[in-house]
Amino acid sequence: MKTLTVIGARPQFIKASPISVALKEAGFEQVLLHTGQHYDINMSQIFFDELAIAPPDINLGIGSGSHAEQTAGMLVGIEQAINYHKPNWVVIYGDTNSTVAAALAAAKLHVSIAHVEAGLRSFNRTMPEEINRVIADSISSILFAPTQDAINNLRNEGIPNERVHLVGDVMYDASLMHGRRADIQSKILDKIGVQPHKFILATVHRAENTDIQHRCQAIFEGLDLISHNMPVVLPMHPRTKATLERYGILDKFQHSLRIIDPVGYLDMIKLEKSAALIATDSGGVQKEAFFHKVPCVTLRDETEWVELVDLGWNKIIPPISAENIADAIRSMLGTVGQNANPYGEGNAANKIAQILAEY
Ligand code: UD1
Ligand code: UDP
Repeated sequence: MKTLTVIGARPQFIKASPISVALKEAGFEQVLLHTGQHYDINMSQIFFDELAIAPPDINLGIGSGSHAEQTAGMLVGIEQAINYHKPNWVVIYGDTNSTVAAALAAAKLHVSIAHVEAGLRSFNRTMPEEINRVIADSISSILFAPTQDAINNLRNEGIPNERVHLVGDVMYDASLMHGRRADIQSKILDKIGVQPHKFILATVHRAENTDIQHRCQAIFEGLDLISHNMPVVLPMHPRTKATLERYGILDKFQHSLRIIDPVGYLDMIKLEKSAALIATDSGGVQKEAFFHKVPCVTLRDETEWVELVDLGWNKIIPPISAENIADAIRSMLGTVGQNANPYGEGNAANKIAQILAEY
């Protein structure tokens, strides 16, 4: 049995890490295709090096561009790869343009698609990710849902039960798989000069926050207010850096916030574990805050990971005003949520490999 795994963006490298190990153990022949959606060393290569992921067999080198440019380029390259390698399964992750391109290319060639992290919904169709998810889920042959809520979403959309499997979250697998190494190897706290539990960790990259200037400004001004009481460490996504430069406000916030380049996964885990609170618009980082039992403020209008809010580990703050954001961070500092395990036992990757092997 042969799989063609399609990845292209930072969180997909992390999700692919436990799955590539599980597929290997289950005896699959694997072909890895990197679309090249992310390409900076610290957005791509660092994850292959740190997480011991095999180098991609194919790198399409698509790079940045409009949605149409990116997706169209990927479609052509992925179609060629499927025709050449003739996989039994195309494995896709999450909700990026790389995900939807692979789903479309495979579906048109009648190749079975396995969608990892299926069923998530924000119910906000202005998000490119929501469009990508809905399309990928509707044409995937088998859907691996991380949570019961994701299962319910798929059921409500009429996706037949036999195509859907509740397996848990592969990001939990990844954090368990690499967490101890982060403790031992990462020197990031010394490097940036912060004390454990005495700083806020922030990440911002969503299009709806970066591309709308008043939202972007509210977030950065809110973090700026907080930085008067506690250092704010912000590994900055290249999209956000480019946007702040365009708005002419990067220099201003570089003085108050500890803005650093994007870090590798081990340093990121160390930062997350050591933060007093995490403020983010990232999907993955919201969950990692919970894995490490750190309170989180989500800088968005909604979240797909609703169980985090229900359990009291996460508070959603629409980025409308700096004061609201600063108040939310202050109110969540030092809080703990309920004990629960909504993301499985850390064996999602093995379950996925087993189900695919039995299909
Ligand atoms: C993409 C995903 C998003 C995911 C995120 C993970 C889509 C539509 N969005 O968003 O769901 O949460 O990845 O990080 O697929 N850039 C660089 N170097 C890089 C990569 C990007 O400079 O290596 C800059 C470019 O200016 C580019 C911009 O970031 O135009 C946005 O990159 P892109 O991959 O289009 O979207 P992300 O915002 O990264
Ligand atoms: N991440 C990382 N370095 C960083 C920022 C994030 O390794 O500087 C990791 C993070 O730990 C998580 C994943 O990247 O595993 C989340 O990716 P991102 O926030 O880019 O995308 P999203 O999850 O929102 O799609």
